[in-house]
Amino acid sequence: MDQRWTNLLRETQAVHKLPTLQKFCPFPTPLAENPITPYKSKAADLMLNDRSPCADHLAGFREALIDAGPLAQWRETYKGGPLGQDFEDSFACYEILGRDAPFATDQMRGFVLYFPAGLHYPWHHHPAEELYLVVAGQGEFAISGEEPRMLSSGNTIYHRSNIPHALTTHDQPIMTYVLWRGDLTTKPVLTAPEVLL
Ligand SMILES: [Fe+2]
Repeated sequence: MDQRWTNLLRETQAVHKLPTLQKFCPFPTPLAENPITPYKSKAADLMLNDRSPCADHLAGFREALIDAGPLAQWRETYKGGPLGQDFEDSFACYEILGRDAPFATDQMRGFVLYFPAGLHYPWHHHPAEELYLVVAGQGEFAISGEEPRMLSSGNTIYHRSNIPHALTTHDQPIMTYVLWRGDLTTKPVLTAPEVLL
């Protein structure tokens, strides 16, 4: 396996030792190496060129995420959907841990998600429970019924099953590591406005 993947695996394993991640989902074992076909989305370059502020303890993880980028199968989760081409060209994502990821497991899914400055990821929900770790940059996280929170590198936020949530970046981009547990196969759907609290 390419050294960039094994390096990312090691860094991801280290990040799962952070107490909040450890509690949400310990690093899954065993993992199977799963050869994937690289695919580069239009948004991938935005993340690969990112230099937004990053906490010291996450700097190695962030570099490993960027280094493995050229090998990754970048996702186009909302292609052809109501968010439009501009969003699709800005939303960068690849999977690290999961059934179809380079490190295969059925216990959880782990993705990197990247949003450039000035992007709004509208209200959406999914049955999987979700934990975001902000790796670099900054963004405003909203959960239905709660006050929005501006989070930076090193902060985490938990989304319970099916709770609508949204994310807005302002003057900085944001790089996040997103963990799913529970229902790992049902995709996110946009939330109808009348459901929001
Ligand atoms: Fe989510």
